[in-house]
Amino acid sequence: MEGGRRGEAAAAAAAGTGPVFTLEEVAKRNSSREAWLVIHGRVYDVTRFLEEHPGGEEVLLEQAGRDATESFEDVGHSTDAREMLKQYYIGEVHPSDREKEGSKNPSRTSSGQTSFWSTWLIPIVGALVLGLMCRYYMMDGKSS
Ligand code: HEM
Repeated sequence: MEGGRRGEAAAAAAAGTGPVFTLEEVAKRNSSREAWLVIHGRVYDVTRFLEEHPGGEEVLLEQAGRDATESFEDVGHSTDAREMLKQYYIGEVHPSDREKEGSKNPSRTSSGQTSFWSTWLIPIVGALVLGLMCRYYMMDGKSS
């Protein structure tokens, strides 16, 4: 039975289609009795992982009940660690809470806009300025 449920959870984790939790619900699970955390918009129950975490129980408890994406990424966890996440996946962050999170991290929700500005507009403006400078110097050369 347990194995079956775990299989389902792993499939849901891969598809990103688990139950939905609000950040308020996650915030209540911030102790060693029950520890949940959010990483990249997904909710993980790390209660049974606390003692096993190679980085220690303390750091997990510090992040419990919160969005731990930044701390998780700052450590530079290995691909193995990322694979392990699936075992603790319990669901998704509620979309309305995800927007709040997204406003802190624009690359998630408005990535289309961000990439437009950085990939097109900046090089185009740069090229225009260069072009104008070239023209200006050439005209300057001719007139003198
Ligand atoms: C479910 C979530 C997490 C999993 C599955 C996980 C897993 C792991 C694993 C497997 C390692 C060993 C090194 C590696 O393979 O990268 C590790 C190390 C570590 N983790 Fe996590 N971790 C999680 C969350 C966090 C969070 C939220 C923090 C917050 C700061 C954290 C801090 C650390 C630290 C400080 C180390 C030690 C790094 C070192 O000694 O080089 N981990 N973790």
